Amino acid sequence: MSFSLSKELKHPVFEIVSEVTSSENIDAYVIGGFVRDMIMHRPSKDIDIMVVGNGIDLAGKVAERLKSTRVQVFKNFGTAMIRYNDLDIEFVGARRESYTPESRKPDVETGTLEDDQKRRDFTINALAISLSKSNYGELIDPFNGLQDMENGIIRTPLDPDITFSDDPLRMMRAIRFATQLKFHIDGCTMDSIIRNCDRIGIVSAERITDELNKIILSPKPSIGFKLLEESGLLKIIFPEMHALRGIEERKGIRHKDNFLHTIKVLDNISQHTNDLWLRWATVLHDIAKPSTKRFDPESGWTFHGHNHFGARMVTPIFRRLKLPMNEKMKFVEKMVNLHMRPIVLSQEIVSDSAVRRLLFEAGDDIDDLMTLCEADITSGIRDKVERYLNNFKLVRQKLIEIEEKDRVRNWQPPISGEEIMEAFGIQPSRPVGDIKNAIKDAILDGVIHNDRQEAWTLMIDTGKSIGLQLLPGFEKPTPLETKSNED
Ligand code: CTP
Repeated sequence: MSFSLSKELKHPVFEIVSEVTSSENIDAYVIGGFVRDMIMHRPSKDIDIMVVGNGIDLAGKVAERLKSTRVQVFKNFGTAMIRYNDLDIEFVGARRESYTPESRKPDVETGTLEDDQKRRDFTINALAISLSKSNYGELIDPFNGLQDMENGIIRTPLDPDITFSDDPLRMMRAIRFATQLKFHIDGCTMDSIIRNCDRIGIVSAERITDELNKIILSPKPSIGFKLLEESGLLKIIFPEMHALRGIEERKGIRHKDNFLHTIKVLDNISQHTNDLWLRWATVLHDIAKPSTKRFDPESGWTFHGHNHFGARMVTPIFRRLKLPMNEKMKFVEKMVNLHMRPIVLSQEIVSDSAVRRLLFEAGDDIDDLMTLCEADITSGIRDKVERYLNNFKLVRQKLIEIEEKDRVRNWQPPISGEEIMEAFGIQPSRPVGDIKNAIKDAILDGVIHNDRQEAWTLMIDTGKSIGLQLLPGFEKPTPLETKSNED
């Protein structure tokens, strides 16, 4: 029975392709992810047009008809792309062999529609819709992709060992689609991933990380991490995370499984943020627990300093995974480093100075830090969770009050190092730093206000106490308009 989707092909480009190809007597199809997403009513900005012929030629002709669009040609891959409004339309000739970026062969043999479909990764990604005039809109589904879509199954069109050997990244893609779509990976396909997981070693870090990021950005990323773990892939691509697994018991005392805890926190935070870097901070927040784990007969299991050690692990992990080594990484480091602070605060009577210090250190990232800490509460005991969350509400309230009063969130030192040097007639040296720190500590501890005059007086007193002599004319601070407060 043929199944027509002609009404769904709303974009004008489909009609144009149909006219161009029909006039030349060649067949063209919409194929792959766009068809999958169209049937599943998911938004999609990439259209793949497959032609049994030359993709680059077709792209040129279609671009002419669409007017004013430029064609980007990738000669090596035999493909061409047109950007039209906010859509990327890629044209490719049907292939006998699947192309993978790792492959050394630039030219792949031309094939038929069926050759092309069977060399695709999953049945749900192998669906094609005809653009030929004779059967415009007909769904061509030789591997029951539609059925698999209805049943929520990820399955390879061919023997999975062949599909995965064509491009081992597809093992990660299977898990990524299962996570994004909440689909189940078919048993044979999963067994093949387990069997072939070592082959992921030949795939570039960039491509692996692309998939990992998509898993992390899914609505429920724990699905993906569990599958990565079960398949053996996690151990290879992200051994630090794999090492979080397991529960140890000594003297009847057990610690929690930090892998399961981490992915639960990740699911929690995913309900509150779509920010990739805050989600990465969540993935890494307890990453140093295995290396800092100790058993103390008095207090049981401890993970002292896991936040600081964890922060130090961020750079090497980002470097290896080819994640950006920039301010995003710094943000993740900072979150990992500070993730214990609000919880400690919420457990004691919250002093102004502790809140001020937290605000000072977290700066504008304070809200993200609080979101992470709230997600970190994974206890199964409802009373406990409520108590913690209420404490956090108090901390949040206090953060607002203190910030209104003391403005330390994006605090700049009220006196610059240069001014200290001028006032005492000294060169850059340790006392300059000591005086600056004394001023900072006094403000954060609430000994003085965040005020230039009070800071100046403290500068003079601190300088004198370490044997420095104030030069004449520096008894009072110069007005700020004429001085830069930057340091
Ligand atoms: N494909 C494949 N093997 C790969 C990558 C892609 O067979 N390793 C095929 C699939 O048919 C896929 C199509 O190429 O549907 C387009 O790939 P891509 O744009 O990477 O993925 P999408 O399936 O469109 O999904 P997403 O946009 O979510 O990445």
